[in-house]
Amino acid sequence: MRRRDAVGLDEHSVSQSDRTREHLIETYRKKAKHYDITSRLYPVPGYPQRTQRLQAVHALGLHTGDTVIDMACGTGLNFSLLQKAVGPGGRIVGVDLTDAMLARAQDRVKANGWSNVSLVQADAAGFDFPAGVDAILSTYALTQVPECAEVIARGTAALAAGGRLAVLDLKVPGRTPGWLAQIGTATVRPFAAIDEWIMRRPWDAIRTAMQEELTDPSWTELFFGTAFLAAGARGRSVSMDTDGPSASAGAGG
Ligand SMILES: C[S@@+](CC[C@H](N)C(=O)[O-])C[C@H]1O[C@@H](n2cnc3c(N)ncnc32)[C@H](O)[C@@H]1O
Repeated sequence: MRRRDAVGLDEHSVSQSDRTREHLIETYRKKAKHYDITSRLYPVPGYPQRTQRLQAVHALGLHTGDTVIDMACGTGLNFSLLQKAVGPGGRIVGVDLTDAMLARAQDRVKANGWSNVSLVQADAAGFDFPAGVDAILSTYALTQVPECAEVIARGTAALAAGGRLAVLDLKVPGRTPGWLAQIGTATVRPFAAIDEWIMRRPWDAIRTAMQEELTDPSWTELFFGTAFLAAGARGRSVSMDTDGPSASAGAGG
């Protein structure tokens, strides 16, 4: 029989979630060393991943001197694109759950002599976003985080007014039968529990969360619907006080 604690958490699901995290970390520890090469085959050889990364960074509308968070940054494959956008006076914060992936990211930072990159080992689900950041990016990762909608909500709340959030990730194209999706994603099976991922359809939760949290949400299907780019900004909401209307950062405004 399942037991619930004082705040209603199901012990079974908590430990299941911990096990999933541990499995994910173990998987990426094994992948980390060769990730930069093997990811070029992700999800299939010749996939236009770099073009998609460029589109995602472009969707952030970055300016020189901006601060950007790369959530679940892995080995830092976005860093050079982000560097070009924010320049040496900007800041990049790479966050990831897996120590070994961050170690590769650190190698990249050192090899390029970047002094404006900080790396943080943290779970996206519990990450305390620094307030007032200009942009948040996540590529090929957020659909692996069951709490993706909360991550988007908390990320949006931390953005400066007008700051932008962009999520790029894989999805199953619409009207694809389940069995075909399973075959099509078999090549990435080691990266995640694909069956569970297909059933859960995390891209739907991400789309809904982006629509709820951001003022001008956009949703673009990429490469025959096998990926999506979702982006939007934190707007200004108008609040009334005794001196009349005043603008403050907030969703939906
Ligand atoms: C497929 S890799 C993508 C890495 C990088 N964003 C890229 O575009 O190459 C997925 C990354 O997400 C990280 N990750 C998965 N779940 C996470 C979580 N809950 N919190 C933080 N990072 C997570 C993994 O450690 C891994 O580095």
